[in-house]
Amino acid sequence: MNGGRLIAFEGLDGSGKSTQLERLAARLRAAGCDVVSTREPTEFPSGQRIREMARSGKELDLEEELRWFVEDRRVHVAEVIAPALRAGRIVLTDRYYLSTVAYQGARGLDTQQILADSEAEFPIPDLVVLLEIDPQQAFERVHARGAEIEGVFERRELLSRVASVFDTLDCSNLERIPGDGEPSEIEAIIAERVRERLGLG
Ligand code: ADP
Ligand code: TYD
Repeated sequence: MNGGRLIAFEGLDGSGKSTQLERLAARLRAAGCDVVSTREPTEFPSGQRIREMARSGKELDLEEELRWFVEDRRVHVAEVIAPALRAGRIVLTDRYYLSTVAYQGARGLDTQQILADSEAEFPIPDLVVLLEIDPQQAFERVHARGAEIEGVFERRELLSRVASVFDTLDCSNLERIPGDGEPSEIEAIIAERVRERLGLG
């Protein structure tokens, strides 16, 4: 899309996506790039209802849950991602369709089908930064402040399954980055990959 670039950050909750996305955005801006930073679930009503659902602790039917994430992505692409790419901007998104592959796949849906449908409908990222971290460590980072004791085992079990799906992914645009070092070291590795692959920064 007219010279714009799309970089998606993926990984478990607590893998460091938002930390590293902000660091890359700052680096690219300092190098003169026109960067849009965005995330899913979005701030649009379609994303807010997902957060409300998650907060309420109620579980949706799995197919319905998939539809909600896909509908939110449709809005995200139409309102934010596609216009920015058309304008030649660099879009950094915190989560994108591989989150649906990994999370809804981990909950029981067909990962290959979700991937194929996503690639057919949505712009394919020029680069996916997959931050890899041990599920136990991710879990500890998220719960570092002692929040949320209930449901702990289900969540830990789900995170392990999500990690297993991420492990099986084999896409040419995917860079696996160790997420367990110092934030500044991880930032430098990501910057290097972005330079090599996209010539940016
Ligand atoms: P995500 O967006 O993937 O959920 P965050 O960037 O919000 O992850 O990080 C989750 C928590 O872990 C935050 O408290 C953050 O400060 C911390 N964190 C992020 N990166 C690192 C790192 N490399 N080492 C240790 N802690 C980190
Ligand atoms: P998260 O990145 O934690 O958003 P926020 O910090 O803004 O609340 O995402 C919320 C949860 O949604 C997270 O556990 C992953 C999950 N998720 C899916 O299950 N499928 C998807 O397609 C996406 C985008 C997220």
